[in-house]
Amino acid sequence: MSERRKDEVTAEQLDEMDRADLVRLGTSLDDVELVSYEERWPVRGTQAERRAERRVLMWFLLSAVFGLAFVGVFLWWPWDYRAPGEAGYALRVLYTPLVGLTFGLTALCLMFGVISYAKKFLPHELAAQQRHSGSSSEVDRRTVAAEFADAGERSGLRRRTVLRRALGLGGGVFGMGIGVLAIAPLVRDPWKDTEGPDSLWHTAWRSSPGEKVWLRVDTGEPEEVVLLRPEDMHAGGLVTVFPFREEEREHAERLAAALRRADSAVLVFRLRPGTKVTTRPGQEEFNYGDFYAYSKVCTHLGCPVSLYQQRDNLLLCPCHQSQFSLVGNARPVFGPATRPLPQLPLDVDEDGYFVARGDFVEAVGPAFWELGT
Ligand code: FES
Repeated sequence: MSERRKDEVTAEQLDEMDRADLVRLGTSLDDVELVSYEERWPVRGTQAERRAERRVLMWFLLSAVFGLAFVGVFLWWPWDYRAPGEAGYALRVLYTPLVGLTFGLTALCLMFGVISYAKKFLPHELAAQQRHSGSSSEVDRRTVAAEFADAGERSGLRRRTVLRRALGLGGGVFGMGIGVLAIAPLVRDPWKDTEGPDSLWHTAWRSSPGEKVWLRVDTGEPEEVVLLRPEDMHAGGLVTVFPFREEEREHAERLAAALRRADSAVLVFRLRPGTKVTTRPGQEEFNYGDFYAYSKVCTHLGCPVSLYQQRDNLLLCPCHQSQFSLVGNARPVFGPATRPLPQLPLDVDEDGYFVARGDFVEAVGPAFWELGT
């Protein structure tokens, strides 16, 4: 409809119109022809209407039930790592699927409820509209507002108290689930524990005064202890190692656990003799001759940096192709990673075995862990 026709409608005329008139005016001004606009349930309170109402109600209530289940699983289901075969393994394996399943079903049931309500209770409208351009006029704004108000009224949501409350319950629990995700770190602060074995402030390479932490090679046998010595590696060689403490030797469970901790894996390189390396300030003494040790956890998103291009002294992360230069002290030279791989200070003990001279001095893994430092 042209602006001229809209201008023909005065403010006084608008004031005199009721909502139905405004709806009709709005559709005609928008060049919309309402072919049909029928109430779904012209006769109220029939068996069929109540059946439809129960069906919608069922979806909203199911959404609320799954939403509560999601919150329960997220907060209370055991989630810590257990190896296959250990007690409680089957239960912990279910954690992630259950979180996804309950959250997905909450959203799905809520959507089904809304769709079902729209299909069963909103007026059946068949309209044809011409396209037009330009900004909205006063007439447009008022008529559109009237159309929304009319749709809300005709939807019957106002008088269907039970359905409205069920929708509120489903939507509320769904929102609560999202809220729980947002505030969970405030309740269980991952930064709070600074000393415990699972604290984010240090890795398993940290040693107490006088304690030796050796570099142990993973042979595939969790109970086998093979310690690394310099002569075990050829020039250009690479070995993945994990921390080992003498008191773990007789404890199969602790030996296996030492290989599992996510931030423990370290790559030890023996560069070719004479390879010129740029060291990082404060870490000039972290290497042992031609031997350098870096965290294996990619500083982009935490994948194991496991591809070694020996000829170019490059380490490649297979996930998003970050490349780290071994002669540039493991700084990223390509890809999305922005931080170098943290370096582990190395030494060799009196028996000729590699030991760690201390923990990493930087955060291991994805950069976001550094936010609190
Ligand atoms: S996780 Fe290594 S590049 Fe993305």
